[in-house]
Amino acid sequence: MNTMETICSRKTIRSYTGENITADELNVILKAANASPVGMGQYDSMHLTVITNEELMNKIDAAGAALFGQPDMHPLYGVPTLVLVSSKKPDPMMENVAFSNAAIIAHNMALAATDLGVGSCYIWGAIAALSGSAELLKELNLPEGFIPCCAIGLGKTDCKYEIRDIPENRIAKSIIE
Ligand SMILES: Cc1cc2nc3c(=O)[nH]c(=O)nc-3n(C[C@H](O)[C@H](O)[C@H](O)COP(=O)(O)O)c2cc1C
Repeated sequence: MNTMETICSRKTIRSYTGENITADELNVILKAANASPVGMGQYDSMHLTVITNEELMNKIDAAGAALFGQPDMHPLYGVPTLVLVSSKKPDPMMENVAFSNAAIIAHNMALAATDLGVGSCYIWGAIAALSGSAELLKELNLPEGFIPCCAIGLGKTDCKYEIRDIPENRIAKSIIE
């Protein structure tokens, strides 16, 4: 796919077969994460955690469901792999940089997944729940002083990517001349 085809085909996948992505696919997706821009080039302010542990995944899923007040929901959608993006706890003045770094890294991974035909989903809600659980945070074994920001769920899907017709005015626009 060329760049615009990938951008316009990308969509959030919430239905997974349960089959995991291959090691080669994961490597391409992690390469895309590493190709991301990071504020002031401070790559050491970011951290990736690849989670495939089913028990931990189920706990994060349950914490997310509890946060949404819907115990029967599965905010991780049964993804077999979750790539958590964490940042060094930012100075409150610079929170915008830390969370933007994480979002850009997650999005680069989503675009790479699209290109590979692999399913991906942005996971922010369940990560907010995770951040509120001291017990789960401990299990992540993050570097000292790092906080989880967001995650990308990855897995095989039966959903197909097709170039979508994107409404050009979906995001309101002002022009200052
Ligand atoms: C910052 C951000 C957080 C999101 N968090 C979640 C989430 O926690 N769970 C989820 O299912 N989708 C989440 N999404 C996906 C959005 O709902 C989705 O991107 C939007 O509805 C547009 O649909 P599309 O991605 O298929 O184009 C998130 C997207 C973004 C950009």
